[in-house]
This record gives sequence, structure tokens and C-alpha cells, in this order.
Amino acid sequence: MATVKQLVFPPLQGLAPAITLDGPVEQREYLIDGEIRRWSGPVADVLSPISQETPDGPRQVRIGSYPMFGEAEAIAAVDAAATAYDSGRGEWPTLAVIERIAHMEGFVHRMVARRAEVVKLIMWEIAKARPDAEREFDRTVEYIRDTLDALKELDRSSSRFTIEHGIIGQIRRGPLGVVLCAGPYNYPLNETYTTLIPALVMGNTVVFKTPRVGVLLHRPLLEAFRDAFPRGVVNTVYGSGRATMTPLMASGRIDVLAFIGTSTAADALKKAHPRPHRLRSVLGLEAKNPAIVLPDADLELAVRESVLGALSFNGQRCTALKILFVHASIISEFLERLSAAVTSLDIGMPWQDGVAITPLPEPGKPAYLTELVDDAVRLGGRVVNPGGGEVHGTLFRPAVVYPTSPESRLYREEQFGPVVPVVAFDDIEEPIRYVIESNYGQQLAIFGSDPETIAHLVDPMVNQVCRLNINSQCQRGPDTFPFTGRKDSAEGTLSVSDALRVFTIRTLVAAKSTDLNRAILTDIVRERRSSFLSTDFIL
Ligand code: G3H
Repeated sequence: MATVKQLVFPPLQGLAPAITLDGPVEQREYLIDGEIRRWSGPVADVLSPISQETPDGPRQVRIGSYPMFGEAEAIAAVDAAATAYDSGRGEWPTLAVIERIAHMEGFVHRMVARRAEVVKLIMWEIAKARPDAEREFDRTVEYIRDTLDALKELDRSSSRFTIEHGIIGQIRRGPLGVVLCAGPYNYPLNETYTTLIPALVMGNTVVFKTPRVGVLLHRPLLEAFRDAFPRGVVNTVYGSGRATMTPLMASGRIDVLAFIGTSTAADALKKAHPRPHRLRSVLGLEAKNPAIVLPDADLELAVRESVLGALSFNGQRCTALKILFVHASIISEFLERLSAAVTSLDIGMPWQDGVAITPLPEPGKPAYLTELVDDAVRLGGRVVNPGGGEVHGTLFRPAVVYPTSPESRLYREEQFGPVVPVVAFDDIEEPIRYVIESNYGQQLAIFGSDPETIAHLVDPMVNQVCRLNINSQCQRGPDTFPFTGRKDSAEGTLSVSDALRVFTIRTLVAAKSTDLNRAILTDIVRERRSSFLSTDFIL
């Protein structure tokens, strides 16, 4: 039987400067109405999941604190955003596209300069492995650049008049108003910015609420927001969702809710809005993406992708593989290989070379995962890999659980952590029924080699999920691909180009083609009197 290394937090002395925090980050600054103001109200401590060994067991390192806003401060943020939008008359929503692009380029330039600080804080706040933290930052920068290219393309296709049935029209996409952006802790930069950036560049103004975990890493970019955009275009809010987001929604002044989190929270927020028909929502919610491993699958590949899919960033991805259905004829060999692969994963700190499993940032997470595993074991399952499910402070050794009873919580609940439930099936109807009966409908992975069998699964299953992956783990990228889900998994579609659409509405100026109207339109365009009525072509 394979031996497993002891779970232990290494000493924190002597770390390289690129990793060491210079001291706790006591954030008191927040951005409202173009000013970085200083907070003097209550604060919350930030405890890193990275811990120090003490005689009483591991103790999480305190790395700083952040403001706990109440209703008044949240409302001040929406006031500033609404004033900057000024019912669509503000400087930002009326600016020509080319000028908004220039502001955004200024932002990226300032953002890139703060890469090292942000990456370091991602490691300390959410324990993301250093290469993944760097990738998250770089992917976000690339996303912004791709967004600007997509916007140029969109603008080019709108920079002309159309004449239909004697009516001249110019059709563009216009902003919607004030957007409340709230991202998750697991991709704090990427998932937040994939809504915030398109919302902004399309002319909306933004109230940006950081999640409860993953706050300080946004601090280095406050000045960039202040300096790159007109006042009030970006405003930040910190603290509990209940104390800040609920009153924001209840104010009725949020036009778009861009939220990545649970469907329960999203439903509560939407219900708090007094005029729900005025509210647009762009939501990324829960998922329980299954993998189906067919009898003729290449097992080495299926195991490799399953480990990546289920355990990258400790399984804390909405796209993670969260349950594996494996054909009964290959279950023993699959489990043996999976257990060996999971056992070989390095457990350690984010800066250690080759680390795969790191401490968990959510308060109470190891205890929650333990409950799920215990429940599955009580219902006939066992932990297959040596030491699986062992807890040491915020460290949780990944657990492969088999068999996973349909009665267990693990069978349906989104674990969002390093627990891999496995189910054996004889009849393909079993996993198909699972997908159909699931509350979620984000993605699915199929492992096999017979084109006929795969094709028979593809056609019905693409009407249950929004992405079907063949011999590949589930994932969001590349970011030019549409990212969405059915049922309780999402509302709206995000991708570089789709995001420009979800934060806007098609708007047009039309006129009967009379001599007078043609003369008016010609004059407006020739004399460049309008940003909207314009045939300027961005090169
Ligand atoms: O948590 C959900 C992320 O958007 C997943 O992104 O599949 O590229 O890791 P990823």
C-alpha cells in the first residue's frame, strides 16, 4: 500500500521576497465617486488559510483586515454610480467607443504594473498555487485585451446606416445603467473582471462588491480604477452581502446584477429588487458536472483528466468534475489508477514547486467535507485512497469515495472541494438519468473511443448541459467560447463577445428617408455632432 506524507505546515521563515508579505495589509481605503476615502468604521480580520504549527495545532496566519460596510456606505456607492451614469447623460455612457477603449487601455497598463502584489495576495488569501495565480492574472489581462478587440469589431459593424422599407436607421448596443458586480473567491480576479470589464467598457457604471474571502488582492488595483476612469464610474463595497447587497438591490437602483455564487443567494438578491422586470441578471451559479467513463475509454487519459478536472485548485472550480460515473466492467482498474494518481499529488503551500493540493480558504470547509464523506461512508461507501479525508487545520487530503450511494449528500450536493465521488454503472441510462434529474446543467465529460456510442450520447445530452467535453475535463476556457449553464447553473452567457451583449441593449435611431431627414443625418455625421450617429470606423 502506498504511503502518504504527514500533513504539516512548513515554517514560514526565510521565504523569498516575491512570496513574503511585508506585513499585514490593514485595508482602510475604498473607492467612491472618484476618491479613495479612508474608512474608520468596523473591520474584519483576514485569516490566511496558510497556517503556522503551534503546540495547540495549526493556527491560521492573520494577514490583514478590511472595512465592513453597512447600508449607508453601500447606498453611497450606488449614489455615486447613478450620478456618474446620470440617466445615460453622464460623461461615461455618452463617450465615443474609441475613447472608452482608451480609458480601458490606461487601466490595463496600470494593472499590469501591480501584477506581483496581486499574485502574492492571491497566494496568501486563497492559497492558489503560484503558477495558477500567475495564470489567473495573465488570463485576465488577455481577456481585457481580447474584449477591446471584440468591441472594436462590434463597433465597426455598427458604424453604418441601414435603409429598409424607406427608413434609415443606425443600430448600436447601448449601456443599461448601474451594474452590481460580485465575484467569487475561487477566481477572484478573473471571474469578477469577466463581468466588470465588459460592463464598464460598454458604458455602464459599476458598484463592485468583493467577496468575503479574497478581498485584499483587489486593493493594489484601487488607484488604477480611480486614475483610469471618470469619477463615480467604479465604486467599491466591502463587507457582508446581507448588509450591503440586499439594501443595494432593495434601493431599486441596480439595473444589472452580475453575480457569481449560489442560486439561493442570487434568488434572494433578485427578490429584493422592487421592480424585477427592470433588472437584468448575469449569473454564474452552482454545478455538479459529471464525467461518464465508458468501457472502451483510454483509462490513462480518463484518470489524468479526471484528476485535473476534479482536483485542480482543490476542486474549487465551478467547472470541476464533481462526480464520476464509471462503467462497472472497468471500475476496479479505474479506482486503482485514480487512487494512485491522487496519492501522488503533492500537498503543500502555494509557492512550493509542483504543489497540487493547498489549504482551503473557506471557513469551516474541512469540517463540511468531512460531513459529506462520513455521510457517504455511513451509506455504504469507503474512502479508496490511503489517508483520504484526513484533516489538519485547513489542509484536507483529497478523498476518493466509492461506491457513492444515490441516497448520500455527496451524490447530489456540490462539494466544491477535494472530494471525488465515484459511482459504477452497468446501463448508460443510469448516468443519463442522473444528468436529467440534476438541478444543474453546466457541463459534462464523456470518456470513450467509439464514435457511434459517443454520438448517441452527444445528441440528447447537449440539451441538458451547455458544454459537452469529449475525452477532456470540463473547463471554462478558452474565453472566446461561450460559458453558461442550464437549470440552476447560470443565467446569461459569458464569453469575450457575448459579455459585450449581456451588458447592453440594442438601441437605434431611425428616420423616414425624407429630404429633411437625410440632410439632418448627413450634417450630424459630417460635422461629427454625435457619438451614436457616426460612421467613424475604428482601425
Ligand atoms: O469557477 C469557475 C471558473 O470559471 C472555471 O474556470 O474552467 O477555466 O478553471 P476554468
